[in-house]
Order: sequence, then C-alpha cells, then structure tokens
Amino acid sequence: MSYPFQIKSFEEYQQKYKESVEQPEQFWADVAENFLWKKKWDNVLDWNFAEPKIEWFKGAKLNITENCIDRHLAEKGEDAAIIWEPNNPEERTRIVTYNRLHKRVCQVAQMLKNNGVKKGDRVCIYMGMVPELAYAVLGCARIGAIHSVIFGGFSAQSIADRLEDAQAEFIITCDGAYRGEKVIALKDVIDDALRGNKTVKKVIVYTRTRTPVSMIKGRDIWWEDEMQFAEEQVEKDGKIFFEAEAMDAEDPLFILYTSGSTGKPKGVVHSCAGYMIYTTYTFVNVFQYQPKQIHFCTADVGWITGHSYIVYGPLAAGATSLMFEGIPTYPSCSRFFDIVDKYKVNILYTAPTAIRSLMSFGDKSYKDNDLSSLKVLGTVGEPINEEAWHWYEEYIGKKNCPIVDTWWQTETGGILISNLAGVTNSKPSWATLPLPGIQPLLVDENGKEVTQPDEDGLLKGNLCIKFPWPSILRTTYGDHERCRTNYFATYPNLYFTGDGALKDKDGNYRITGRVDDVLNVSGHRIGTAEVENAINMHAGVVESAVVGYPHNIKGQGIYAYVIYNGKKAADELTKKDINVTVSKVIGPIAKPDKIQFVSGLPKTRSGKIMRRILRKIAEGETENLGDITTLLDPSVVDEIKKEKV
Ligand code: WT7
Repeated sequence: MSYPFQIKSFEEYQQKYKESVEQPEQFWADVAENFLWKKKWDNVLDWNFAEPKIEWFKGAKLNITENCIDRHLAEKGEDAAIIWEPNNPEERTRIVTYNRLHKRVCQVAQMLKNNGVKKGDRVCIYMGMVPELAYAVLGCARIGAIHSVIFGGFSAQSIADRLEDAQAEFIITCDGAYRGEKVIALKDVIDDALRGNKTVKKVIVYTRTRTPVSMIKGRDIWWEDEMQFAEEQVEKDGKIFFEAEAMDAEDPLFILYTSGSTGKPKGVVHSCAGYMIYTTYTFVNVFQYQPKQIHFCTADVGWITGHSYIVYGPLAAGATSLMFEGIPTYPSCSRFFDIVDKYKVNILYTAPTAIRSLMSFGDKSYKDNDLSSLKVLGTVGEPINEEAWHWYEEYIGKKNCPIVDTWWQTETGGILISNLAGVTNSKPSWATLPLPGIQPLLVDENGKEVTQPDEDGLLKGNLCIKFPWPSILRTTYGDHERCRTNYFATYPNLYFTGDGALKDKDGNYRITGRVDDVLNVSGHRIGTAEVENAINMHAGVVESAVVGYPHNIKGQGIYAYVIYNGKKAADELTKKDINVTVSKVIGPIAKPDKIQFVSGLPKTRSGKIMRRILRKIAEGETENLGDITTLLDPSVVDEIKKEKV
C-alpha cells in the first residue's frame, strides 16, 4: 500500500494547505478516494457551527473494519497488524497478523450478535491493554455497535455514571489487568459499578490474570467460551466470513467520555467516515509512516490517543502497531527503550510526562540501549518543556530523529497542529503548523481575532478553529445542547478548544495550556469541578476549591483548598481519607497532590470563588495577587498564603 496523500516536502505542504482552505470539499474528496466504500457519498460537506450540524460524506456507506482489515488481506495478510508486548517481559509476545486479526474480529462480531448486540447499541469496554481490547473495539465497529472504552484507572462510580449516561446494555471486561507489579481486579470494579444499574444485560469476561471473579448467572459470560462457539460459525470451508454492517458515513462509531469545566464528564461522539479518513491521513503524514515500519504509541486505548493512533489510524493505513500492556518503569526504567530495541521500533509516540519521568533516572533509562532503529519521535497530551524536548532529541533520537509535537483533543479525533516529521520544521515546545484542512485563529475574550503582536512579536489569544475537519466531534451523547454550549457558543461560529496559544510570525503555534477550569495531570484531562464534587462528598468537608500548580513530572499537580468541619481532626490522616474518597468517586488519577485546610475561600460579593488568586498562591506567588479589593473578606487571603503547603 502506498499513500498518494503523503506529503513529501515543505512546498507540497504549503500547496496542499492552500488547496485544503480554498477547496476543502475537493481536497477531502480526493483523500477519501483512497478508502473502501460500499457506496460513495452524495455530498462532501454540510455544516453550520450554530447548531452545530456537521456532516461529512453524507449518503456514503462503509464499514471502518473493512478499511482497517479486509482490504489489506490480499497483500499483507501475513504481515503483523498488532505486535503485543506483555507487562512481564519474560512472558510470550503475541504477533497478530492481519489474517488473524480478521478472524478474531469476525469472531467478536459473531459473539456480540449471538448475545443480542445490534447496530447502534452501546457496548462499554473496560479492559487492560491486551490484543482482545483491539478485537473488542473492532468487533463492535464491524456490527455497528457503538463502543465506549473506559480507561482501567476509573473507579466503579465513574463507570456507573458513564453506563447510565450512555444507556449501555453490554460490557466487555477482563478478570484483571497487569500494571507493573500490580494486578487490578477489573471485573470486581465492574461488579460494583453495576449495583443499581438497570440497563446492562450481559457482561463478557476475558481471562487475563486469573484473578478470582464472581460470575452472575444469566448476566456474566466467559469470552473464551463465547469466542469458541463463534469460531465455528464464522469459519466455512476454511474461509472466515462475517458480513460487515453497512454504516452511514455519519453513523456514530464510538463515544469517549472526557472531562470539561462542569462536574459531569461528556460523551464525545465520533462518526464513521470522517474519523476514519482524518486519523489515517494524519497518521501517514505526521509520522511519515513507510510500509513495514513499526509504530509504537505508548498510550492506553482508554484514551483518544490509543483509539486514533494505536487502533484505527495505523490499521487503516495497513501499518504494524505495537501495543504495550505495562508501564514505562517496570521491570526497570529502560522498559520503553528495551521494547524499541526488541522489535526495532521506528516510530515512538509518547507523552511529555513519561519523558520527564524517565529523565529523572539520569542516563539509566537509555544508556544500555541501541535505539538505532528509531526514525521519528512524537509527543502528545500536554505542552512539552524545552528541557524535556532536548533530552528526547539528544538521548533517545541521537539527534537523528525529527520530533513531532502533536496538539489535538478527544473532541478533534485526530492531530490538528503538528510538524510533519522531517518534512516541515520542528521548533522545541511549539506544535508548529496546522495540518491541511485545519484553520486555526486566536481570539481575545470578546471573540475578536488577535492581530496585534506583543512586544516579543507574538500573537496571543484563545485558540479556535473556524472550519470543520472530517473528525470533529458531532455531538455529546444524549445532550446536543451541551455540545453547543461547550464548544460552539463561547465565540459565535467558531469551535473553541479551551486552550490558549501563541503564534509567531512564521505561523507556528505554541499551546500554552488550558484557559478554562480543566487540569492536565500527566497528560490526563481532569475537570476541577469534578474533583471538587468528589472532595465535597467526604463527610467532614464543607466546601473546596481545586486549582492546578506546576509539577516537575506530571506537568500540573492538583492543589485542593478545603474547608473542613468534621468530627475528626483536620490532619494528615484526614487528607488521606479525602484522597481515598476522590479515588472512589473518580479514580486514583484525580487524587489531589496537595491539600490545604482553610477557614474560608476568597469569594466575590456575589459568591464566586476567585480561582485566579488561589492559582497564584498554589504556584508560589505571594506578592502580585492582583486586585483583591472586590473580595467579600480579603483577610482569608493572608491566612491562605501563610499556611500554604
Ligand atoms: C488537551 C486535550 C489528544 C491526545 C491526548 C489528550 C492538551 C494535547 C498537546 C500538545 C500542548 C497539548 C491541550 C488539549 N494537549 N496535546 N502537543 N501541546 N498541549 O487529549 O484528554 O482530550 O486533552 O491536552 O490542553 O486541550 P485530551
């Protein structure tokens, strides 16, 4: 498979970018010609951001799994689609060829059908990073069921909320998952999540860790048994067959929950055709993927990065995607690089937080590794500081690999701003240029485009996009109005990203971080309101306010100011209790790094918490807190400053 849409030079990038802005429909229709359609589209694009209504390739019929699997079988049936590296390096590796992937996905589709799953049904997937997770995702897509993958670090309560919101009827899970030294009892968590649940009919359990599990008659069934049964049904005369459902271009492909500035996570909905086209296009262009290369994205499939750049994008491009079950520091801090050497990985795509964490081991993580197979390095999830960028470039890339700093979001489906490896220039800590089809602009608070550079010659503002691209979110599940108010109402006729950015005279963008009440902790998105709600559930807590502060490894840490009025003392033990509460309500990733007990919070006369002040104090600022005269009780600020933790 060659990629006619792969951009090869900076001039070609400029040319393509121009075409994509001047004739977006023609541009994307040309790209779409490289995919397998059951029926071609009637109309390339119909849109308005006011509702919003966004429709790409309306009238077309396709199945994304035929694009990710079936169309590759003739030429590369015996090539590796997925290489799987287990948590424990001593355990057997699994190489999943495209032929094998085809068979397994057909089996999963048949298994789901046998259990009553139909097109449009919501299937929640809560598994560790095993190949069966990819089979499950693709099996849903094959029959047109909408998958909703939930990251293994979320608590029972979080899962329960998501099941309820999606009205999910089916769950696919594992007995347990390995993460470094730990075994996480996933099925146990599901059991807790299902107490009081009224929608789920079946739970399919894959055996990974042999953790003892409770199996409820009539509800819980074993993956292995069901898959064996399905195997006989999909195999006829030595051939594997399961008819892929003909999906409308705009049918939903999946829901993925993500945090926003309100208390409740939103179910971001992506559709079949646009998502497929854009993830494939960006995979091939940003990483400059060449046939036979091995692509290693270290994300979890529980996040959008794993959906787009472990599963859908690479497979649709017929690539070899490496899937790793474990963590970067187990059994030692050289694990990522041991994997790179073991499989001769060519593309390594990871998060700044992982890079900073490996840096903290000095040269230990890489000194015994060869790393000469690497051609391209990538980062995603949060701004990368220059120190980490240079470390990555020098010690991992040996100054031989371009680094792509890829900016995007759950809602964007694929990478929107990034350099193209070796084709367009990189600039440390800058995401650089928009991909073809992406029209960013910076606006001020009033939504006016910023055109006046500051003293450093940079434009500074809130990052918006003014034209739809194929994989933009279509709605938030069950609540379209929420989608509108969240993304399309702040500035009329613009998609607002929630990020602030700088732009230099060459058109490069640097993302400076969120400008809303959303934190980015180790590349994970966490809403401050969500954490506050969780803290407030603790029996002795009266009120709380959560802000972010700079953290050496995590990028941002979580700082919680808590008004506490409990029976027990406001001491270290109580802080631990509060952390356990947050773990139970959201998951361990949302635990505050610092808790400070306060007698009051800085509020305006209208009762609004002045987070700006709390943020500054958490950042270590004591002098320039800005105007505090509008506070109801300015004296609390002194107390908070004095008792900072
Ligand atoms: C937020 C989206 C998209 C994959 C993982 C995160 C931040 C993402 C970068 C980058 C600076 C980045 C933004 C964005 N972000 N990539 N290269 N440079 N910031 O997905 O959980 O939807 O979070 O992550 O703040 O809004 P997500």
